[in-house]
Amino acid sequence: MSTSLKDVKRVTTHVLQEMKHRGTPIAMLTAYDYSLARLVDSAGVDVILVGDSASNVMAGHETTLPITLDQMIYHAGSVVRGCHRALIVVDLPFGTYQGNSKGALNSAIRIMKESGAHAVKLEGGREVLGSIERILTAGIPVMGHLGLTPQSIYKFGTYVVRAKEEAEAQRLREDAKLLEQAGCFALVLEKIPAALAAEVARSVSIPVIGIGAGQGVDGQVLVLHDMLGINTEFRPRFLRRYADLHDVITGAISSYVADVRAKDFPNAGEQY
Ligand code: KIV
Repeated sequence: MSTSLKDVKRVTTHVLQEMKHRGTPIAMLTAYDYSLARLVDSAGVDVILVGDSASNVMAGHETTLPITLDQMIYHAGSVVRGCHRALIVVDLPFGTYQGNSKGALNSAIRIMKESGAHAVKLEGGREVLGSIERILTAGIPVMGHLGLTPQSIYKFGTYVVRAKEEAEAQRLREDAKLLEQAGCFALVLEKIPAALAAEVARSVSIPVIGIGAGQGVDGQVLVLHDMLGINTEFRPRFLRRYADLHDVITGAISSYVADVRAKDFPNAGEQY
């Protein structure tokens, strides 16, 4: 008997908590549009992140800073329409939550109301705690993000591994605890030493999802376009490529162009 889409059970923040408890690793990927989100969801990913990495991979910007709240809501709504199982988390874009908890709450409410997503993510520790607490008062689940936080790239100056020095590692440990105590349902740790990430994952009760943070965490996240090999320029050590879609897609398109030029497409069976 085939399972109808209505029978598919949605992943919730509670399910993720149980997965951590049971030691079942959580699989998370980004998506930004309806068609790819459908594939990601049907392949069994637990959490889909509508990341502000859309600014890079969808819009071609050098950083995540330019993407707007309206653009994030557009991407998120498209992803929501393509998914039946995954929990959908949306990044609050740069400038919509820092230093202004009321603004943060309004941004989060717009995302939830206008896109139909299930949670928001924002970058930072103690400096954005007021915003996190205010968003949580509206019953909106919040995912934290520590370590390499790309919205602060002009402060860091580089995308190298974070928290290698003890002072920064200690601050990260403390921030992880603060986010847990504030009520975040999960935490992303980006590009930090594996030993530190594992220590943080053990020290908090909420799921910790890593990107470039080793195996000792509760789940993994990658940017979809990177793991599918659509982007060939981005090759950090942590990235495993599961496909080489750059070559597959350009090969298919070159064949199409050649067929059109040779008047081989359309053939007799491909016309009315
Ligand atoms: O925007 C994004 O894709 C992210 C992931 C790298 C975690 O924040």
